Amino acid sequence: MKKELIDRYGRKLDYLRLSVTDRCNFRCYYCMPEEGMDFVQRKELLSYEELDYLTGVFVRLGVRKIRITGGEPFVRNGIMDFITTLAKNQGLREITLTSNGSITDSQIQQLYQLGIRKINISLDALDKQRFFEITRRDKFDEVFQCILTLLKKGFSVKLNCVVDGKKNIADIVPFVQLTENHPLSVRFLEEMPFNGTGKFEVPEWNHLALYDYIAAHFPTIQKVLDEKNSTSVNYQIPGYQGTFGIIPAFSRTFCGTCNRIRLSATGELRTCLYGPPVANLRDVLRSGASEESLVSEILDAVAKKEKDGFKAEELNAKTPKKSMSFLGG
Ligand code: GTP
Ligand code: 5AD
Ligand code: SF4
Repeated sequence: MKKELIDRYGRKLDYLRLSVTDRCNFRCYYCMPEEGMDFVQRKELLSYEELDYLTGVFVRLGVRKIRITGGEPFVRNGIMDFITTLAKNQGLREITLTSNGSITDSQIQQLYQLGIRKINISLDALDKQRFFEITRRDKFDEVFQCILTLLKKGFSVKLNCVVDGKKNIADIVPFVQLTENHPLSVRFLEEMPFNGTGKFEVPEWNHLALYDYIAAHFPTIQKVLDEKNSTSVNYQIPGYQGTFGIIPAFSRTFCGTCNRIRLSATGELRTCLYGPPVANLRDVLRSGASEESLVSEILDAVAKKEKDGFKAEELNAKTPKKSMSFLGG
């Protein structure tokens, strides 16, 4: 019988999010402190050989889309060679990336040649000073240039903007306006409690508040069709080239159609972003286990995937609150 990643509720998990590093060249305030974190040691990281092998196993189990995340994927040495190998896997329908915009022109060129067409870029402000306050890096111009280069080259680009009432409300209207002349999709994200801040209450700028605010400024707002398994609820202003969406990342109205499974840079397998690791595939692999036992470990974990995942407000002091840089978003 063909083995597939199907959970108790009939959801087919065909989208793997692969965090290739927990390191990052930025220091977004909601993600990590200025001084950085206790980053994972090299020997604890899944090597590229291990990643090649594991992605092969996942594709044989029906995974059709892989998103490479981090930390910042492009700070890991050898990332382009890894993506080149991954792109040769005929079983994959799509490889996508989430980056903070630290991709060089030649890497963009190479990614296009490898057949990659969709890239998500984290960008929380369109104002240089606010960008600096959020990321603690003076890199706005480079990131914005990277976005323009991606669009020019023909990539489909989504921007992820984490909304915080104290930091970037003034950027919401400019972000929607950006979609007038740029064919991109801006997504406004509710902030999630993954940086040890202990913020377990529904954020003030939750998806409902965000919608009301945008609709008040753009009364002609129209709903557009969402992609299957979309995390964002999407809209458009008539006549604008791009679209925008709201991701209820804290409220999580999309769990019912969740098709995602996650692998951290150290091999932790998660069936929910908010949940604990359900297996460590690096340890299974390094113990010399056969592919068969690895597969049965993965199938067992998937079978137990929760219907609605873990509720953010149920998280308590015992739950390890790792940074998104480790979890991969
Ligand atoms: P597409 O594949 O383009 O639809 O993008 P995506 O939304 O899956 O990926 P992206 O890396 O851009 O993720 C954007 C954000 O969506 C993440 O950082 C999270 O905030 C949120 N998100 C994605 N998957 C989940 C999930 O399973 N649970 C929760 N709570 N949030 C998620
Ligand atoms: N809450 C919401 N989004 C976050 N991201 C990182 N940390 C958080 C958080 N605490 C986002 C980044 C990136 C995506 C992978 O996750 O902005 O776009
Ligand atoms: Fe880096 Fe992304 Fe974390 Fe910002 S949110 S510090 S860009 S990993």
